[in-house]
Amino acid sequence: MEFDPKQFDKIVDRTQTWSVKWDPDYMIERYNRTDLLPFNHAEMDFECPPPVIEAIKERANHGIYGYTLVKSEYYDEIIKWFRSRHNIKYSREDIIYSTGVITAYRQVVDFFTKPNDNILLLTPIYKPLSLAVKEYQRNLITVPLTLENNKYIIDFDLLEKAFETQPIKLFSICNPHNPVGRVWTEKELKQIGDLCLSHNTLVVSDAIHCDLTAKNYKYIPYASISNEHAMNSIIITSMTKTFNLSGLKVANIHIQNPELRKVFFNILDKKFAYAPSVFGIIALIIAYSKCGPWADLLTDYLDENYQFMKDFIENHNLDIDLIHREGTPTAWFDFRRVPLPYEKVHLFLVQKARLITVDGSYYTANGEGFQRLSIGFPRSRIQLAMERIKTALLGLS
Ligand SMILES: Cc1ncc(COP(=O)(O)O)c(C=O)c1O
Repeated sequence: MEFDPKQFDKIVDRTQTWSVKWDPDYMIERYNRTDLLPFNHAEMDFECPPPVIEAIKERANHGIYGYTLVKSEYYDEIIKWFRSRHNIKYSREDIIYSTGVITAYRQVVDFFTKPNDNILLLTPIYKPLSLAVKEYQRNLITVPLTLENNKYIIDFDLLEKAFETQPIKLFSICNPHNPVGRVWTEKELKQIGDLCLSHNTLVVSDAIHCDLTAKNYKYIPYASISNEHAMNSIIITSMTKTFNLSGLKVANIHIQNPELRKVFFNILDKKFAYAPSVFGIIALIIAYSKCGPWADLLTDYLDENYQFMKDFIENHNLDIDLIHREGTPTAWFDFRRVPLPYEKVHLFLVQKARLITVDGSYYTANGEGFQRLSIGFPRSRIQLAMERIKTALLGLS
């Protein structure tokens, strides 16, 4: 099927759709004004692929939206997608559906660790992952990523020290890593795996951004490294970021080890099943089966948006930097050279650039001085945001 790349240039008004970032009530409540461009959430302002819209309309026309069976087509399309796109072979029993990646992650924390167990995360990190650790009364162990030549890397000496200092029950990988935009290499994943396997540490990988990798970078599923890695890991995926379907609430938990799966189902059965909505099920089947080329066009467009921002900063000699990006629909900006205390930058951008960003301090640890912006916008909006940042920075000097 042919898709039109110009689709991504289209401005769609979302202000009256209860969007969590565009709704005027949200802006008033948080900032007492409605003239802001919300670059904060890791979701996009693009209409989702036309075949998904058509399939949802068709199902909506039926008028009854009762409990829905998750049939073999659902699993078949997931299996095909991950085999063809990410070179990993899942079988149907490896896949457990869920309503969200964070819901699934919280279940992993709940089912596979006990209060006071240590859970390790590399920071800065998407906050709901560390919040889950704290809310379940587990110990949060953080190891800071190191910024070297504009790119974040894992300091394996620090990581080893963390493993030597205390028993680590669970290592949470975020791959691609939100917010720093790294896509972990096979070598890095093997090094993580060596530590986890030798210390009897289970690995959970949040791979929600796995399809949104930049050109020349490839997502490698942790479980694809070796059978040992597969047997010691749980991967959580979703098509919601790839096709801009976050409101449909679908995710999948991939557990190849039958013993781990048994633990999961024993507990899940005692609670209740987490089936996606009827529209989520349909959207997944259509998106994975028909919309791969749309996702390819999208990743190109995101790369171009990132490059546009980078060129803009260089061409206008702005006192900010854009961190090297390998994946995710976001960009991580370094504002540390701007002559303002780190804690004032976010509000400065709201007031002077009329832009909502996510302040680096949100990301659990060592994100101070940075701001995260979504790059899932039509190019004209990206340009407008950069112009506004430029004007705001000029006002400082
Ligand atoms: C790394 C990461 N994990 C999970 C989520 C949220 O996933 P869900 O809405 O399926 O809970 C996000 C959303 O931005 C994310 O960036």
